Amino acid sequence: MNARELLQRVSGLDLSEQVVERALRERMAHCGVTDSAAYLQQLSPAELAALIELVVVPESWMFRDSGAFSAATAFVQQQLAAQPGRIVRILSVPCAGGEEPYSMAMALCDAGVAAGACRIEAADLSKVAVERARAGRYTRNAFRGVDLAFRERYFSRRGDEYQISDELRAQVTFSQANLLAFDSASAAGRYDVVFCRNLLIYFDDPTTTAAIAVLSTLLADDGMLFAGYAEVPAFCRNGFAPLRLPGAFALQKAGATPAAKPRAAAARPPARKPAPATSAAKAAPAVAPLALDCASLLAAARRQADRGHYQEATASTHALLAADPNSADAYFLLGVISECQHNSGAADDYWRRCVYLQPDHYDALCHLALLAEQTGDAAQAGVFRQRATRVFERRAGHSR
Ligand SMILES: C[S@@+](CC[C@H](N)C(=O)[O-])C[C@H]1O[C@@H](n2cnc3c(N)ncnc32)[C@H](O)[C@@H]1O
Repeated sequence: MNARELLQRVSGLDLSEQVVERALRERMAHCGVTDSAAYLQQLSPAELAALIELVVVPESWMFRDSGAFSAATAFVQQQLAAQPGRIVRILSVPCAGGEEPYSMAMALCDAGVAAGACRIEAADLSKVAVERARAGRYTRNAFRGVDLAFRERYFSRRGDEYQISDELRAQVTFSQANLLAFDSASAAGRYDVVFCRNLLIYFDDPTTTAAIAVLSTLLADDGMLFAGYAEVPAFCRNGFAPLRLPGAFALQKAGATPAAKPRAAAARPPARKPAPATSAAKAAPAVAPLALDCASLLAAARRQADRGHYQEATASTHALLAADPNSADAYFLLGVISECQHNSGAADDYWRRCVYLQPDHYDALCHLALLAEQTGDAAQAGVFRQRATRVFERRAGHSR
């Protein structure tokens, strides 16, 4: 078995040769081994864990796709109202550095839900990420929105970092675990709310199906599951039905009694509408073929970028621009890819083109504000921040 196959077997991750090669080279150098066959033969569990750390992508931030937290909070409130005194159980897997479960804890606290009314459990394959989550200490990178008032409420400044409050920290239980190896049978139906966002994008189809089977067992029959926008079609192919909650990417088990539409708590900027995924588009013949192709190209480019395949993502985005030169989302994505490659100048340029084409592109305005702040241009940062705030307020007003 080669390194790529081994890593896929133990983590489920469908990795590119390049990613595996880079990780292997780094660990072999660290261990002073020059022959990859010898390295793989002597691989101890600790060394395998170190290798895994180099291929996972523990990228997350507070209130990522914030619509999910508003919808989950409203759902929890509904459950508690229906059965006062019960405990609502929430699972976040993968939780990366804890940004997702802590966002849930903050949203519940903001909504006045008593800490004892919910149990939040969180797990991730990466030991390093779980240790970071337990420590609850974050850099500015974890705070990417414009509305950062929650940071004042729940974090205290420690030098360049932010420490989450002890009260919040005590509300989440973290563990290091592989979703694919969960003992789901003994926890069948345990969770009312499950977050599994931005993991299946790294799996191939059979692994995705296996992961969804585990999640389906863990989720109560009347529970609600939150996925990443690109992952919704995979859930729909595997026994789930999407719920029409804007910006939340929420699903429930197919055949479950439809959850009453929770009234959105809308504490944060409403997420932008997702680009239609390919399978959803199949069910919508009214969409013109060109629009469909552009949406598929954008979805593919986002998936590639999420996986760290920047060259392919750039190529897909340029193909999209060839078909639709005015695609603000394409320029936004090129900005994100440039930023991931530490090319802030190019990122700035792409995001400016994005907001030129779509002046109310909330995400681009936020990124431009953050970038200007990072380069010490407080005035420019303020201008972008204000524009983003206006967009946020306008959308929040419309969704009320
Ligand atoms: C991009 S992060 C997603 C974090 C968070 N859910 C979010 O959407 O912001 C992906 C995480 O999946 C974790 N991961 C990868 N394979 C896993 C597995 N088989 N079981 C549990 N976690 C896994 C990685 O360690 C990484 O932290």
